[in-house]
Amino acid sequence: MIDDSINYEYIIRYLRDLLPERQGIQGEMEAFAKEHGVPISQPETIKLLELLIQLGKVKSVLEVGCAIGYSAICMVAAGCERVDTIELSPDAARVARENFKKAGMEEKIHLYEGDAKEILPTMDGSYDMIFMDAAKAQYGEFFPHCMRCLKEGGLLVSDNVLYKGMTATDELVQRRKITIVKRLREYLKMLSSTPQLETSVLPVGDGVALSYKRR
Ligand SMILES: C[S@@+](CC[C@H](N)C(=O)[O-])C[C@H]1O[C@@H](n2cnc3c(N)ncnc32)[C@H](O)[C@@H]1O
Repeated sequence: MIDDSINYEYIIRYLRDLLPERQGIQGEMEAFAKEHGVPISQPETIKLLELLIQLGKVKSVLEVGCAIGYSAICMVAAGCERVDTIELSPDAARVARENFKKAGMEEKIHLYEGDAKEILPTMDGSYDMIFMDAAKAQYGEFFPHCMRCLKEGGLLVSDNVLYKGMTATDELVQRRKITIVKRLREYLKMLSSTPQLETSVLPVGDGVALSYKRR
């Protein structure tokens, strides 16, 4: 079993074998994340992000949940010109800053250190894409600010929405995760019923919701 994944192990292994091994700073960061238990997005999810960036000619991204900066660096490497990213943990933020410097991307990635609940209401950017990847129980709280900061014709990408399958069935829900699962279900309902959004939930990685903001 791979990380309580939502997909069959043999499918994940096969799909991951298709992905080229990450070189340089990206490879180093993957190894660091594995060694230190840092939660970074799954390889299939990162590949999807990179594809969306190239397909949609995405130039600006707001990321909620930076960790050590792995996805931010991958998005810039994929062609994004500006990533604004928010991280609560001072330790993760420090490592992320070092990584942005090592990658020579300090000019393109701006890190806001602090709680997204406080930072998002102060933001007024107009982004091509928003990558929602912080505390899963708080997605609903972040959502109105993300909608405000997302351009018409932009894409909201929300990671981990199937949450190891727990969102889809009570049979898998662990007691201590009940609140998160309840909120993720509410969040997906909200995405699906927001008239300005066209949403599709993909069983990629840990579940990714793609929401297009209509023009
Ligand atoms: C899954 S990790 C992000 C992984 C990163 N996007 C990547 O793929 O490389 C989630 C991060 O969100 C941060 N986080 C959680 N709640 C937050 C909040 N309220 N505000 C800002 N960051 C938060 C956590 O500290 C954690 O580092």
